[in-house]
Amino acid sequence: MAIVNAKEMLLKATTEKYAVGAFNCTNLIQMEAVVEAAIELNAPLILQCSVAPSKFLKPQVVGAIYKTLAAGAPIPICLHLDHCNDVEFCKVCADAGYTNIMIDASKQEFSENIRQTKAVVDYCHAAGGISVEGELGTVSGVEDQVRVAESEAELCDPEQAMAFVEQTGIDIFAPAIGTAHGVYKTKNPKLDFERLEKIAALINGQEVRVPLVIHGGTGLQPDVVKQLISLGGSKFNVSTDLKHTLIDTTYDYILTNRDEYNPGKVDAAVNEAIKNKIKYWIGLLGSANKA
Ligand code: 13P
Repeated sequence: MAIVNAKEMLLKATTEKYAVGAFNCTNLIQMEAVVEAAIELNAPLILQCSVAPSKFLKPQVVGAIYKTLAAGAPIPICLHLDHCNDVEFCKVCADAGYTNIMIDASKQEFSENIRQTKAVVDYCHAAGGISVEGELGTVSGVEDQVRVAESEAELCDPEQAMAFVEQTGIDIFAPAIGTAHGVYKTKNPKLDFERLEKIAALINGQEVRVPLVIHGGTGLQPDVVKQLISLGGSKFNVSTDLKHTLIDTTYDYILTNRDEYNPGKVDAAVNEAIKNKIKYWIGLLGSANKA
């Protein structure tokens, strides 16, 4: 049960109207903390690693850490490659044991986005047991090597979304609806709820087939998060919040214990802070006791 792809857990989440937390990690300490928190709350989990940390740590190392953490866990856990715009690197990570691959060709023309996304779908489905996430429209902000200026961001066209899903064969779908990576400039960013509702009705109205992903979780107010879930979002991505927690906790610990030189204690402080953060998100997303 522990090593799974994203599809089944998200079909269940969509039907039961909660969201699975998809948490970006950059190192082992974060990954362990995220897994421990999810186990304590009996929640399904998606561990995410974007391209830069995957390359820095090496996909095979990330895959091995995932397998070790997930193998004995009493909850379903997926390892997701986040926002990869290189088809060949998607294949490398699929071979290394990632169980959900996001090919992000959203900056390409529609037909080229379809071509690249389908190439990854064909590869992952032939390999067996690996699901694929595709994106249409562009999410503004910075997520690793993917940078989209606000002026460049384009929302997802619902009719095109149907064609994209049909023609690529993707398992889960990320429509751009106005959320952004990084820290929002205002407390109430302008999100297109109607667009999400329309896309959800077109794709999953008759039967839940292709779960929908909400990017840019950091900074969204709790009522907004709940509304996005009620309209059909069932994979909820959080990255910046965890980066800030890691760095701020490390900085504060060192500042107050300047002469200590005990790395294990810094790790323990980060572990506790990340666990608290993950528990907050799991509570908000409604995925506790859904494993
Ligand atoms: P945030 O960094 O805004 O939380 O976005 C995360 C995300 O969407 C990762 O793909």
